[in-house]
Amino acid sequence: MLEIKNLHARIAESGTEIIRGLNLTVKAGEVAAIMGPNGSGKSTLSYILAGRDDYEVTEGDILYNGESILEMDPAERAAKGLFLAFQYPMEIPGVATMEFLKVAMNSQRKARGEEPLKVPEFIKRVKDAAGTLEMDFNMLKRPVNVGFSGGEKKRAEILQMKLLEPKLCVLDETDSGLDIDALKIVSDGVNALRSPDRAIIVITHYQRLLDHIVPDTVHVLYKGQVIKSGDKSLALELEENGYAGIIEEAA
Ligand SMILES: Nc1ncnc2c1ncn2[C@@H]1O[C@H](COP(=O)(O)OP(=O)(O)O)[C@@H](O)[C@H]1O
Ligand SMILES: [Mg+2]
Repeated sequence: MLEIKNLHARIAESGTEIIRGLNLTVKAGEVAAIMGPNGSGKSTLSYILAGRDDYEVTEGDILYNGESILEMDPAERAAKGLFLAFQYPMEIPGVATMEFLKVAMNSQRKARGEEPLKVPEFIKRVKDAAGTLEMDFNMLKRPVNVGFSGGEKKRAEILQMKLLEPKLCVLDETDSGLDIDALKIVSDGVNALRSPDRAIIVITHYQRLLDHIVPDTVHVLYKGQVIKSGDKSLALELEENGYAGIIEEAA
């Protein structure tokens, strides 16, 4: 489903190369974890997947279902089923969360050739999804993420993901800012999205999240490259021994 080949990318403004020859394949149905120390390029990778224009790809390719996405703008990527939950979700003052969800869901439906949702059906879906995430429905009348706590923002992201039914989900540090109970709820929300025709990439630097969202594959990112891949036991090994051993091994 996702194939990243020898990707090199830099910050557009300064020209600093952050991603330095990254290779990664994620299959449909798979939950892949990307781990790595701070500053290794994990968030940068998620921004590049989203298509943010402050990063430039200088070499390599990103194929989604065999098709390069490099020339697609963020909206096209989203229409094709790519969904990203950022480490620091954006606040959108002046736009009520409900309104935002309606526009997002209906434009996704349009891209799939489906009719817009009728209002009662839309509200029912949002209520159901918010309920499973134990979110207060009234919160959704407030502007997107404005004044939400860290944990509420993460839940709001998972809510969007549930409602938009994307094919490839990338979750950047979804666990940061969550207490244990919220972590459980958010993880359950992600697990409920596991499906044979969907791939989920979970970016985290702690093993803790992976106790709840058990990955099929684990990839270690360091200095803009995947330096080691394995199964879930790799995450446990990292928890025990830290990154130093693997970094040394790769050097
Ligand atoms: N816009 C930017 N300007 C300057 N440096 C950046 C920018 N984006 C990322 N970096 C640098 O790139 C490196 C990778 O950052 P990041 O992708 O956030 O790492 P991670 O998410 O793995 O902690 C860091 O050294 C960071 O300081
Ligand atoms: Mg990060």
